Amino acid sequence: MKKLVAILSIFATQYNFARHIIIDAEQPQLIKVYAEDTESLNLVKNIMSACGLYCQETTTCSKGDNCLYILAGSDIKLDQQSLPDNYIVYYTKPFKTVHPELLQNALVIWDVSWENIARYKNAFSHYYYLPNENYTYLDPVILSCYLPLDLLSTYKKLLQYSNSVNTDISSHVPTLFCHAYFLKPSIMVEAGVRGHEGSNVALQAVTQPYNSYLIGIDINDDSRVYNNIPHATFLQMDDRKFPAHFKTMKVNKSTIDFIFIDTSHEYQHTVDEIRLFTPMLSEHGALGFHDSNIAPLYNRTAYARLNGTILRGNWEDAVRGVAPAIKQELNIDFDEAQYVNRTFTKDSYVWRFIHYPFCNGLTIVKRIQKI
Ligand SMILES: C[S@@+](CC[C@H](N)C(=O)[O-])C[C@H]1O[C@@H](n2cnc3c(N)ncnc32)[C@H](O)[C@@H]1O
Repeated sequence: MKKLVAILSIFATQYNFARHIIIDAEQPQLIKVYAEDTESLNLVKNIMSACGLYCQETTTCSKGDNCLYILAGSDIKLDQQSLPDNYIVYYTKPFKTVHPELLQNALVIWDVSWENIARYKNAFSHYYYLPNENYTYLDPVILSCYLPLDLLSTYKKLLQYSNSVNTDISSHVPTLFCHAYFLKPSIMVEAGVRGHEGSNVALQAVTQPYNSYLIGIDINDDSRVYNNIPHATFLQMDDRKFPAHFKTMKVNKSTIDFIFIDTSHEYQHTVDEIRLFTPMLSEHGALGFHDSNIAPLYNRTAYARLNGTILRGNWEDAVRGVAPAIKQELNIDFDEAQYVNRTFTKDSYVWRFIHYPFCNGLTIVKRIQKI
């Protein structure tokens, strides 16, 4: 075991994936790695081991084997007939030629270079920038490897949406989808709706695989957004009144699996939400928070998206109560500007805390074990 840890540390040092990314989800299928060169192969293997994923090296690709392939390199020489059914393209270096058919059929394109991305992004928007020296970018990118094959086309659409619709939450849409999906939710709550955008797009997509029940809450009337979602209810109310209201609802479960909070971002309001919603969570339930890192760049006037765009605006006076409320109520200190993946203990549970600094911040706090 010591030897294994030592080997992993060497890889981690080499590629700076010093901390393991822990997702608390099962790997649903075998991952096969078809790499053009040893460097690309080692890079994929290091990423997989940093994330606790199992992969197998291969020199040929097959159809119909229900595996997820990672095709890694800079000039992947596979013709249309030889491509596997389900694959991620990982450009590990600058490439010479864009191969439209390869990219069109890829479930996701991971790319080490913005110059590469610039050459195809107008035609193919299902990409993620994945620099090989910075694990901050690795967590959102790797989540697709924990999805079953039949959900990867949904994921692809969400990634296309996320890279095309530039908002303060757009980068988090695939991430939110994955984290909510991993909870196998029967009931989810979206507190703060506003429209069919951002969180609503992600959570609506999760309702399909599990036939989950989605409850939307907003102080304003956003009922039109919910009219088109089967198995969903919209409640126009202050979300702090929801716990009492939930007791009167005729649902077949007394707890909620995922509560996503994106409302006023005021400190006291967020404190109230954490205190009121935490007791409603199921055994392996989670809270999600948007706006836990509002406009951190250029003297708090801008934020960066995962697609490389930066939005500058008038954010100096923005309400920034979410992160302080999380820190106080969960008794956890973190730097909002950094990616964080760690556990903490509270109220007889071990919780996982994952914080994504991009796009005004997304924080997931989930119960993983009762003590
Ligand atoms: C930032 S928007 C939500 C955005 C949405 N989640 C998305 O991803 O696009 C915040 C929403 O919270 C709602 N809101 C503010 N205070 C609230 C409260 N006390 N209870 C319920 N909703 C509230 C606002 O009406 C607004 O629609």
